[in-house]
Amino acid sequence: MKGRVIILALLALMCCINTGLAHKKSYYTKSRPYVHKQKQVTNLHFYYHETSNVENATTVIVAKPAANDPSPSQFGTITAMDDPLTIGPDPSSEVIGKAQGIAALADDKYYTKSRPYVHKKKHITNLHFYFHDTLSGKNPSAILVAKSNGTTTSPTSPTPFGTVFAIDDPLTVSPNKSSEVIGNVQGLYVSSGQDVLTLVAYFDFGFTKGEFNGSSISVFSRNPVTNKERELAVVGGRGKFRMARGFALLNTYFVDMKTGDAIVEYNVTVIH
Ligand SMILES: *[C@@H]1O[C@H](CO)[C@@H](O)[C@H](O)[C@H]1NC(C)=O
Ligand SMILES: *[C@@H]1O[C@H](CO)[C@@H](O)[C@H](O)[C@H]1NC(C)=O
Ligand SMILES: *[C@@H]1O[C@H](CO)[C@@H](O)[C@H](O)[C@H]1NC(C)=O
Ligand SMILES: *[C@@H]1O[C@H](CO)[C@@H](O)[C@H](O)[C@H]1NC(C)=O
Ligand SMILES: *[C@@H]1O[C@H](CO)[C@@H](O)[C@H](O)[C@H]1NC(C)=O
Repeated sequence: MKGRVIILALLALMCCINTGLAHKKSYYTKSRPYVHKQKQVTNLHFYYHETSNVENATTVIVAKPAANDPSPSQFGTITAMDDPLTIGPDPSSEVIGKAQGIAALADDKYYTKSRPYVHKKKHITNLHFYFHDTLSGKNPSAILVAKSNGTTTSPTSPTPFGTVFAIDDPLTVSPNKSSEVIGNVQGLYVSSGQDVLTLVAYFDFGFTKGEFNGSSISVFSRNPVTNKERELAVVGGRGKFRMARGFALLNTYFVDMKTGDAIVEYNVTVIH
């Protein structure tokens, strides 16, 4: 009995020491229950004006693939924009903000009064598919669009630090590339690790088959590709996946370290 009391006292003491350390040195707090706050709904309504290839254009091309195609929308082109937002379709109507971010001049014409948001019943869906990223060959689905001055094409990595790729990769039901295609992923990845190869993914996974045809999920996440198993954050979606949240568990099925070609198994859990 006495021994037990002493052990309990010791445990309590250790707990205190641990929490003390966690508070001093840690970059996180102890997790605590989350209390839902009442959310608000606001609708915004405005027109977006974009001009290119004119004097003072609101959008400019900042990077293009090496192949010289004069088209402003060649696969792999990246543009920067600073587009005005107006109340009406006429470009001379009142400007209420800019598409860099719409923290705009207050004027109660382009937004509704905020109202309480009513939580809808959510669903959870698991998606399982394979991602085919092909850098090699005549018709690559991932192409280099920009790299830093000073980055030489490394003999050890097809994606050295600072390289940016645009992708349009097919998604299939099995690792076999000729198996049924259920959608595609479009977006960018940036090689962002100085010491260890890491990519940051800016992806939109669009589905073209079955119930989720026309819907998509948005992924914005670090992707530590040298780990065989890894996780990406799902930050939103379109269509049936509107306002989605979730995560994707990745497992490299095949990778060619010379060309960078890869097949990756995706197991996505989406709450929407
Ligand atoms: C472009 O911007 C410059 C500087 O603000 C201005 O002087 C010029 O008139 C503008 N040109 C056009 C076509 O709007
Ligand atoms: C790359 O940087 C070097 C040194 O700063 C410079 O001399 C060279 O012109 C740059 N090359 C390009 C393509 O910008
Ligand atoms: C991939 O699928 C195609 C068409 O269904 C088939 O002909 C081929 O044998 C498959 N390859 C492998 C490795 O299973
Ligand atoms: C997916 O949706 C598009 C556009 O609504 C439609 O044309 C296409 O037939 C649909 N495909 C399937 C497999 O349902
Ligand atoms: C996918 O992930 C879920 C949740 O983590 C897990 O329950 C399921 O077994 C996984 N499915 C596959 C095919 O890996």
